[in-house]
Amino acid sequence: MKLTRRELLKASAGLAAAATLGHPSMAQSPLHRVRIPSSGEMIPSIGIGCRNYRADAGYEELMVFRDTFAHYHNLGGKIVDTSPNYGNSEEVIGRIMADLGIRDELWVATKVDRENRADGISRMERSFELLAGDNFDLMQIHNLRGADVQLKTMRAWKEQGRFRYIGVTTSSDRQYDRLVEIMESKPLDFIQVDYSLGNRNAADNILPLAQDKSIAVLTNLPFGRGRLFAAVGDRAMPDWAAEIDASSWAQIFLKYVMSHPSNAIPIPGTTKPHHAEDNLAAARGRLPDANLRAEMERFIDPLLA
Ligand SMILES: NC(=O)c1ccc[n+]([C@@H]2O[C@H](COP(=O)([O-])OP(=O)(O)OC[C@H]3O[C@@H](n4cnc5c(N)ncnc54)[C@H](OP(=O)(O)O)[C@@H]3O)[C@@H](O)[C@H]2O)c1
Repeated sequence: MKLTRRELLKASAGLAAAATLGHPSMAQSPLHRVRIPSSGEMIPSIGIGCRNYRADAGYEELMVFRDTFAHYHNLGGKIVDTSPNYGNSEEVIGRIMADLGIRDELWVATKVDRENRADGISRMERSFELLAGDNFDLMQIHNLRGADVQLKTMRAWKEQGRFRYIGVTTSSDRQYDRLVEIMESKPLDFIQVDYSLGNRNAADNILPLAQDKSIAVLTNLPFGRGRLFAAVGDRAMPDWAAEIDASSWAQIFLKYVMSHPSNAIPIPGTTKPHHAEDNLAAARGRLPDANLRAEMERFIDPLLA
C-alpha cells in the first residue's frame, strides 16, 4: 500500500488529542542522559528502533505507529534509529515526524547500505528527502557494508554540516574482527552493536574498545528480537527488580544494557505506544551495579540455555 499524506493526516485526526493528553508519566523526572564523547552533547540514554515501521501496514496499524511517535516524543524520547534497509520505514517515519511537527526536536539516525560511492551517495540523498530534514544527527554504515568507500563521503558531508555524527553498525558477532579494524583505523563518533542480557559478546572486546577510543555506543536487539521475553515467560519479576526501580521485564533488560560502563544506549524496536512508555521508564530511577549485573546474568543464563 502506498502511504499518502492524506492517509497520515486522516490517521492524525483521531489521535492527536489522545497523544497530547496529559499522562501520569509526563510528570515524572527527566530521562537519564549520557554524554557523546566526541562532542560533549548530552542525549537521553534510550532510543527507539524503527525496523518495523512498514508502509504496507493497514490504516489502523498506521494510526498506532503515529501514536507511538507522538507518545514517545511527549514523554521525552528523542533518539530515533532507522535505515533505508527497513522497507519503507524512512518514508513512514519521515511523514509521521513532519505531520506531528516534531522532526527538528528529534535526534535522527539512519544508515547507508551500499558498496560503491555513487550508489551510497544516491541512497543517502534519498534518506534526506524521505526523512524531511536538512541534516541528520547520525549517519551509519549498515552492517559495515562498503565501509571504506562510504566513510570517505560521510566524513566530507559531516564537514559540510550534513551529519553531526558518523558511525558503523552490525548485529552480527561474526563481523567483530572487521569492526575492530574499522574502530582502530577510522575516526568514528558512534558504533551500533547487538548487546543485551541475552548476547553479551560485545562486552568482551568491542565495548571496552569503544570506551578506549571515546566512541559512543547504540545497542540494537536489546530484547534479542523478543527472545528475552520468551525466556522469562510469565514468571514473576525477581525481588531485585525493586532495587533498580524496574516495574517490567523490558525495563530490567534495558537497564542491564544502560548500566554497562560504555554508557550504551539501547534502541528497542517499538511500534506500540505502551511499549514506548514502558521502555522510556527504563531511563529513570536506579541502574544495577556490578554485583547486581552479575546476578542478572546468573538469573537469565539457565532460562536461555
Ligand atoms: N545491523 C543493524 O544496524 C541493526 C540490526 C537490527 C536492528 N537494528 C536496530 O535496532 C532496533 C531494535 O531491534 P529489533 O526491533 O529488531 O529488536 P528488539 O528491540 O530486540 O525487539 C523488538 C521487539 O520487542 C517488542 N517490544 C518493544 N518494547 C517492548 C516492551 N516494553 N514490552 C514487550 N515487548 C516490547 C517489539 O514489539 P512492538 O513492535 O509491538 O512494540 C518488537 O516485537 C531496530 O528497530 C533497528 O532500529 C539495527
